[in-house]
Order: sequence, then C-alpha cells, then structure tokens
Amino acid sequence: MKYQIPKGLFDILPNAKESFKEVNRWQYLESIINKLAIDYNFEEIRVPIFEKTELFLRGVGATSDIASKELYTFLDKAKRSMSLRPEGTASVMRAFIENNLSQEKKFHKLYYMGPMFRYDRPQKGRYRQHHQLGVEIIGDKSFEIDAEVIDMLVTLFKRLELKNLKLLINSIGDLETRTNYKKALLDFLKPNFENLSEESKARFDKNPMRILDSKDERDKKILKEAPSILDFLSDAAKKHFENLLNLLDKLDIKYEVDSKLVRGLDYYDDTVFEVVSEKLGGAQNSLGGGGRYNSLLKSLGGPDLPGIGFACGLERILQTMIEEEVYFPEKEGPFLYIIPIGEDAKDFAILLAKDLRHHKISVDIDLNAKKIQKSLSLADKLNAKNALILADDEMQKKVASFKNLDKREQQEIKFEDLKNFIRDKFYKL
Ligand code: HAM
Repeated sequence: MKYQIPKGLFDILPNAKESFKEVNRWQYLESIINKLAIDYNFEEIRVPIFEKTELFLRGVGATSDIASKELYTFLDKAKRSMSLRPEGTASVMRAFIENNLSQEKKFHKLYYMGPMFRYDRPQKGRYRQHHQLGVEIIGDKSFEIDAEVIDMLVTLFKRLELKNLKLLINSIGDLETRTNYKKALLDFLKPNFENLSEESKARFDKNPMRILDSKDERDKKILKEAPSILDFLSDAAKKHFENLLNLLDKLDIKYEVDSKLVRGLDYYDDTVFEVVSEKLGGAQNSLGGGGRYNSLLKSLGGPDLPGIGFACGLERILQTMIEEEVYFPEKEGPFLYIIPIGEDAKDFAILLAKDLRHHKISVDIDLNAKKIQKSLSLADKLNAKNALILADDEMQKKVASFKNLDKREQQEIKFEDLKNFIRDKFYKL
C-alpha cells in the first residue's frame, strides 16, 4: 500500500526550491514574527490543537462557515465531541477565562502561532491544515488599541518587504446597529432574491451580512446599490471609527474604507479589517484579518472585557513573498564539513567533530567519503562554509587541508594546531 498525505495538507521540507514548503523560509518568517512580538511587547500563549466542539460553535459562531461546515469533528473514546481548532481566538478566550488571567492584570497582549484546521475545498492558498500568527489584545476598548493592532499587522508586511498589499477597514457597529442594518439589507435584497447566487440565497436567512462579501459577479452587481452599514452606526461607533481613521492617517498607514467588509466570523463588533494581496488571486487573497470583539469573553462565561485581534495565514504570506520575489536569507550550512578518506582519518574526524561541537561550532562529517571531489560538491550543496580534507597524504604528514569554500582557498594546518585554528576562524566570523 502506498501511503499518501490527506488532501489539502502538505509537508514542510528541508529542500523545496521555489516553494513555500521549504522549512528555511518558515524559520525566517517565524523569526521576523517573534521579533515583531517582542517589539510590540506581546506575550506568547500556547493553546491545544483540539477543544470541545461546543467552544467553537459558541465562540466562532454556529452560523459561520468555519463552525457550521468546516470543523474537523470527532468523538473521543468516551464519545465526547471534540474538534480540531479552526482558528485561535476562541481557544485563547477559553484559556484566558479558565486560567483566571484577568485576576493577575486587566490588560493583556497575547500572540500565538500554529496550525489551524478547516475542511474546505483545497486550492492554492486554501488548505485543510494552515498556519496562523494570531494576536489578541484584551482589556482595552480604545481606538488607539485598534490602531496599534493594525499598525502591527502592517509593520509585519513591511518588514517582510511585501508591497502590493491593500488594507481594507470597516466598522460593523454594535449588535443594535447590525440588527437594524440586517433588516435594511434584507429589504433591499428581497426583490432581487431570485437573481442571487445559490450560496447567497442560503445565507439570506442564516447570515445575510455575509452576502456582502460574495465573490459572485451577479451578487456583486446587485450589491452595488446595497445600503451601507456605515450609515447605521450609533454615535459612539461612528466616533470610534472616525478617531481610528484619523489616527491611522497620522501614523501614515494607508487604508481603504470598504463598507462591504464583514469578515467570516460571528464575534466581531465595531472595527474590522483585512489585508489583501493584489498578487494572490480570487477568494484566497486575504493575507490576514481581524477585528474587535467586545462581548466574546462575556458570552463564553468570562469577565466583561473587550478584545481585538487579527490572524494571518503563513502559507499565503510565504506564497506572496515568493511571487513578489522578496528577500529570503540563504539556508545556513555547517561551518565545517570534514572529509575523511580511510578508517584512521574517520576516527580522527569523529573526535575532532566532538571537540568542535562541544565549542558550539557546527560541524558535519562525510562518513562515506571516498572521492574528495564528490564530497566537496556535497559540501557545496549543504552550503557548508569550509571543508577539511583528511586523505592518506594528509594523515601521513599529520596535516589537514582546510578549504574556504567561498574563496576556494586551501591551506595545510598541522594536527596540533588544528583545533585552535578552526576555533579562531569561527569566532572571528
Ligand atoms: P480568518 O480571517 O478566518 O480569521 O483567518 C485569518 C487568516 O488565516 C486569513 O486571512 C488567511 O490568511 C488564513 N487562512 C484562513 N483559512 C485558511 C485556509 N483554509 N488556508 C490557508 N490560509 C487560511 C481568524 O481566524 C480570526 N481568529 C482572526 C482574529 C483574531 N480575529 C480577532 N482575533
């Protein structure tokens, strides 16, 4: 039997040239993210990969596609319904409440990275297991916090040197705003119901605001004349949104107000935003998005504290980086690649490698070395910085040939000087 990876999943590999599946690229992206979190003073939180299914139904919202259609749900051995997490916010809120984090302090800035699972039709930019960076700020309702979160997302993309991106922003107000708006939207859509796409027809009763971000051309045409939620905002929500836009202007963050941006999860109030790529096509062009959720914690049985956050998809970010041909650092190879020919040389190499590794110098040995040229080309493939050749000739003379693989320079070093010579070279880097 031939085993194959399930559909919509992928492996991340040591070498996958020109692809987002190369581990080196993930490590680079993760290092930029970890530094960003430090610079914005976020603390890391790690929550489990699966939770009780109810959490996602309550947290993400039973009418959202993510919870109603895309959950990976299974019964455990005690017949309890569990689901792989489709996103991180609900789990972080559960952990926040369960561990009483609000007792320690009222204001928290948290971030997480890891795999999420959504059973959807796989295609480029859409996977059944994808990875997110997510951030959540809990305990402050002010527009300045909205601006900080948005600035962090924009700064991430700037640090990655991504250019063809657009920040979309909207306010969907509070519950009362949305109740009034839904009514107006339904009144507007009713005469056009028969002309809507099947998907939008299905959303008409369940979640009409999601019709607004339909990608169907017919729907889009109908929606051109739809009422704007911005005309339904309460005074407080309007003020919050205006203040936020003013602050974004001051911070020189470019945005486009998109009154049709509603996002696919049920927990948002007021500010919602998304960063879309002009390079990634179609429905999969969203690199990251988020918004404010002022009643989620309370609705999950926690303290009455507001929150705001975003998540971005690491696959989509890497794919966009590759498409935009932005910089990725070269894969680091070992500092030294030892090429011993013969048994004595091999023994010598093993002891030398042990000593150098003990001094935190990265070393590898070609234990099957037979032909120097072949081993040297292996060293190049590994991106090794230097090679150390120990052939018969060298063993007899008690010297080793040290070769700088960048400069292609070679010199002979006496055995007794070898360790100091290599340590010196390494620490002078
Ligand atoms: P989301 O918009 O559902 O938000 O997902 C965030 C990002 O994850 C998307 O913008 C996209 O880049 C990526 N993504 C989502 N689904 C897939 C998929 N099937 N394949 C590849 N990438 C995908 C959330 O998850 C919210 N929890 C964000 C948030 C945090 N809101 C407040 N706090």
